[in-house]
Amino acid sequence: MQGFGIDIGGSGIKGCLVDLGAGRLAGERVRVDTPQPAKPEAVYDAVTGIVDSFGWTGRVGVTFPGVMKRGVVHTAANVDPSWIGVDVDADLTARLPGTVETLNDADAAGIAEMRYGAGRGHGGVVLMLTFGTGIGSALFVDGRLVPNTEFGHIQVDGEDGELRAAASAREREGLGYPEWARRVDRYLEVLEAGLWPDLIIVGGGISRKAHKWVPLLSTRTPVIPAELQNAAGIVGAALAAAERPESSA
Ligand code: BGC
Repeated sequence: MQGFGIDIGGSGIKGCLVDLGAGRLAGERVRVDTPQPAKPEAVYDAVTGIVDSFGWTGRVGVTFPGVMKRGVVHTAANVDPSWIGVDVDADLTARLPGTVETLNDADAAGIAEMRYGAGRGHGGVVLMLTFGTGIGSALFVDGRLVPNTEFGHIQVDGEDGELRAAASAREREGLGYPEWARRVDRYLEVLEAGLWPDLIIVGGGISRKAHKWVPLLSTRTPVIPAELQNAAGIVGAALAAAERPESSA
């Protein structure tokens, strides 16, 4: 069975057909630069262009880097503030042949990892974190998602957690992996104190270099790298859209 996923990010918008049996992209992913400024109309044009280029007419899952409730954007920490209050599901469903389900980007990545990747078969409290421009989080309790957890914004030593510990902080401040890992460690220490997860899965582009920083962490919770890497958002969004009950569409 095939699905379709779109990943809306700060620098790129990516889409692809998804093989929902295997949990991987079916064919070549299409990527376009995120229009600047990344306002809704311009982003919608990019999304519809990608979906049309595949000739896809079924349901579409879309990730967005903010709190998403019933298709409506509630926060926009790293994207244009004009998104707040926008009903992305309604707007994109009006522009595309199939219905659209939009969800938080980290929640989508987590859904994919739990079904097909590093979280497969793990019960208990599993926390997926994505390290990129911000820090995204997805929390699972016995495999069920608790959506929109937003742990990137916990206060760590008086600062927004992602400001110091996101992958973008490492680049922005020119930090080496050991220095950045100390920040991630401190961030995780605060998170663990409030949550006591059984497993932490780390994703985002920087998880490809997990060997350089994960062994430096001193968390009591086991930390393992994500497996689907940059396909996770697309795959998870496609899965969420495909499995959404008809009545809530
Ligand atoms: C946003 C989250 C998002 C994360 C990763 C954070 O700044 O608040 O909603 O999941 O960045 O993109």
